[in-house]
Amino acid sequence: MYVLGIETSCDETSVAVVEDGVRLKGLSTSSSAEIHASYGGVIPEIASRWHLESILPVCEKALTRAGIDVFEVDRIAVTTEPGLLPSLLVGISFAQGLAIAINKPFVGVNHLIAHLYAPFIDNPNPPSFPFIGLVVSGGHTQLFLVKSWRKEDIICLGLARDDAAGEALDKAAKMLGLGYPGGPIIEKLASKGEIKYRFPCYYGDDLDFSFSGLKTSLLYFLQKNPEAKVEDICASYQHVVMETLVRKTLDAARKYKISEVVVGGGVSANKYLRGLFREMAKNIHIHFSDIHLCLDNAAIIAGLGFHHYLELT
Ligand code: KG4
Ligand code: ZN
Repeated sequence: MYVLGIETSCDETSVAVVEDGVRLKGLSTSSSAEIHASYGGVIPEIASRWHLESILPVCEKALTRAGIDVFEVDRIAVTTEPGLLPSLLVGISFAQGLAIAINKPFVGVNHLIAHLYAPFIDNPNPPSFPFIGLVVSGGHTQLFLVKSWRKEDIICLGLARDDAAGEALDKAAKMLGLGYPGGPIIEKLASKGEIKYRFPCYYGDDLDFSFSGLKTSLLYFLQKNPEAKVEDICASYQHVVMETLVRKTLDAARKYKISEVVVGGGVSANKYLRGLFREMAKNIHIHFSDIHLCLDNAAIIAGLGFHHYLELT
């Protein structure tokens, strides 16, 4: 079964064709991130106009790469939540129009859960159920217990009370005058620095996260230490964000006696985070996807959409 996935929740317009939920046949993504960079964050009006202009050529390119005609598509899956409303509406409206044109059904997919689907694509050793899922994206940091892809089997264990991990990196980069998105810029500079400073980060007994205090501590640090090297600041700040994510995820795995962990979302592209997980997880198997599937893309939407159809039929 060919599922055509559509993703427009933020600043990436992406369309993909995935066969039987696991084989990626064609993917095309067009990002407006460079335009947002000059504003230091995503501007919803610009993102949605970009989606409007890009969605048709991106869809045609994905089909060409997959080597199929649009009438060979069996099902359509589209991100319906969460995301920027004007951006989501472009993808949803396009999906509805396409569904009518080719006379095939469409299904809505949750973008956060789809991030956990990434290591199931083109992977000969995919994760097995049940697993603890950590989603770390620009707008969300959330821990799930996932027993199957059925909605009632996906249980939220904890979430960011304020800023998400990606947001904490993006805002820190903005404070340091480094540009947007901050995560990859901080990662690059951190690789040339030392973990010299101890930034405090909330760590409660529950499985929730809070990164806004950390961001404030960076602000005060910068006021008091104008001479500190940016590479060392990035290394120290990145360390505390990533260590908090790893410790909380492993706490959840121990609490629920689960030995499989899936990490998804843009921040999971971070190599320091991957290394720390491997170092700190003793008897726990950690799954990441290829870097190109960590960031927003439609392959994860098509893949998870396939399972939603299986549930309906
Ligand atoms: O999942 P995603 O592409 O979009 C959302 O759904 O939000 O995540 C974007 C976030 C941004 O905050 C960006 O700074 C962060 O992922 N990010 C990274 C890296 N690449 C992207 N953070 C740390 N290290 C990276 N290499
Ligand atoms: Zn995302």
